[in-house]
Formats: sequence, structure tokens, C-alpha cells
Amino acid sequence: MHLIVTTTQSQDSVSVPMAEFLSESRFPYVPRRGLSLAKLAAQNGADAVIVWEEQGPVLRAGEEKLFFHPSMAKSRIAAHRKQGRVDNMVKACQLQPGDSFLDCTLGMGADAIVASYFSGTGAITGLESQPALAAVIGWGMKLYRGKMPWLNQAVQRVQVIAVHHRDYLQMQPDRSQDIIYFDPMFSQPLLQSQPISALRRYANHDALDPCSIDEACRVARKRVVLKSEAGLCEFERLGFRRVEGSKHNPIAYGVIIAT
Ligand SMILES: C[S@@+](CC[C@H](N)C(=O)[O-])C[C@H]1O[C@@H](n2cnc3c(N)ncnc32)[C@H](O)[C@@H]1O
Repeated sequence: MHLIVTTTQSQDSVSVPMAEFLSESRFPYVPRRGLSLAKLAAQNGADAVIVWEEQGPVLRAGEEKLFFHPSMAKSRIAAHRKQGRVDNMVKACQLQPGDSFLDCTLGMGADAIVASYFSGTGAITGLESQPALAAVIGWGMKLYRGKMPWLNQAVQRVQVIAVHHRDYLQMQPDRSQDIIYFDPMFSQPLLQSQPISALRRYANHDALDPCSIDEACRVARKRVVLKSEAGLCEFERLGFRRVEGSKHNPIAYGVIIAT
């Protein structure tokens, strides 16, 4: 995918964070010069454009927009804070305060933020193989300043790395992460919403490979957890013998306890 970065129509100079973003991501910068995004993309042979807005980067292709927003994570954490509701992912991971958590499929970052909130002090790392997603979500997280200090802290503790999870796992020492988590793309979306359809356009849809799970089992100190559609053979194919979830939930969690 060929991507370019530009500013909004009203702000056509490169700000300090935008300059840092450009030097880190290495995506080419194209001055806006009052042009529409469609024209700018066509002139530069780009499939998508990252527009640097006041709150951070926004990935645009046609009418679709993708940017970081912690709303899903916020409602899950708030359900725990207000009603004491136990989060299904946290339960499947048996996440304890201080645990390190390696999210091998960052996406929009909701699961990583929830893990960050419940871990509190452990290192939280999010891996994303698609450079555009890693850059937009990673920088959106870095720049996020909301009204809730507990949410700001949880968001800012997530360290995002643009890498295929197999390559990353192969470089890690044995037993160096407490929890390792996978949430690959579902074949059919369970929810229809604008952010999810934008994510589907840019995401890596490859099936998980057994080698990544073997590596995760070597690197995990406590457990490896896979989220998938209940009833699919993914758990069996990848060696997850223990599956948690309720009869009425279309989502289930496979668990491998580290030995
Ligand atoms: C279903 S989404 C994850 C959603 C995420 N759990 C959340 O809470 O927003 C899956 C993400 O994993 C990424 N992905 C798929 N295969 C990957 C791989 N091999 N390495 C790193 N990221 C990968 C996809 O590009 C996509 O962004």
C-alpha cells in the first residue's frame, strides 16, 4: 500500500509532533497546498492518505476514516469501575496487577488498554504488522489526553511496535512475558461499525500460524490466550485444548497454561 502524509486544509505547516511522526514512520510527506485529498492521492499514486489533525493522525481512504479512540476500552473499564463487571478477556488471561502483557494483534488497541488498566504497573506491548495501523494507532495513543486520568494512564502505558508477531516472538528470551494474547481478524465481522469496517480495510487477515503459537508458549511465563469465534476449529488447529466462554457468547477464549 502506498501511503502519503499531509496536513489539514487550514493548517499547512509541519508541527513538532508531526515531524517526529514523519521521521519515525518514514512515510513520505506531501504539502497540502489547498488540494482535496482525492486529488493529492491521485497526483501521488497513493492508495490512502494520513492527515495530521489537531488530535493526531487520521488515515483516510475515500469516505472512510481511521484514528485512535479509546471508547471501547473506556466502556469496558467503566463497567468494572461502576458495576464491578468482570471483563471476559481479563478473566481468560487471569491478568494480575503487575503482569506484563504482550498483545500480538494490536488493531485499535482496546484490549491492550484494558490489559494496561488492570495490570497497572506491568509492561504492556502491542504488536501490529500493518505499518499504517501501527503508526496511526500508536501515535494516537501517544497524543491522547482525555478527561479521565485512569484512562490516560492506561493508554499511555501501551508501547506499540510495528512488526509481525512471529518475527518479534522469535527474538524474545524464554519466559519473558507473563501473558501473551492473540485476537486475529474474524472471517466475518460480529459488529458492523465505521471504525471496524475501516480496520478491516487495512488489517492483516492472514490466519495465525502454529509457529507463532509455539514461540508464544516458549516466551510466556503464565499463559497464552487466543480470542476466536466460538465453534470454529481454530482452537484445535492451534493446540488450544482449554476453551472458555459461555454458550450464548459468539466469542470464546482458548488458553494454554505455560509450563
Ligand atoms: C481483530 S484486530 C485486533 C483488535 C484488538 N484486539 C482491539 O482490541 O482493538 C487484529 C489486528 O491484528 C493485526 N495482525 C494480524 N496479523 C498480525 C501479525 N502477524 N502480527 C501483528 N499484527 C497482526 C491486524 O492487522 C489487526 O489490526
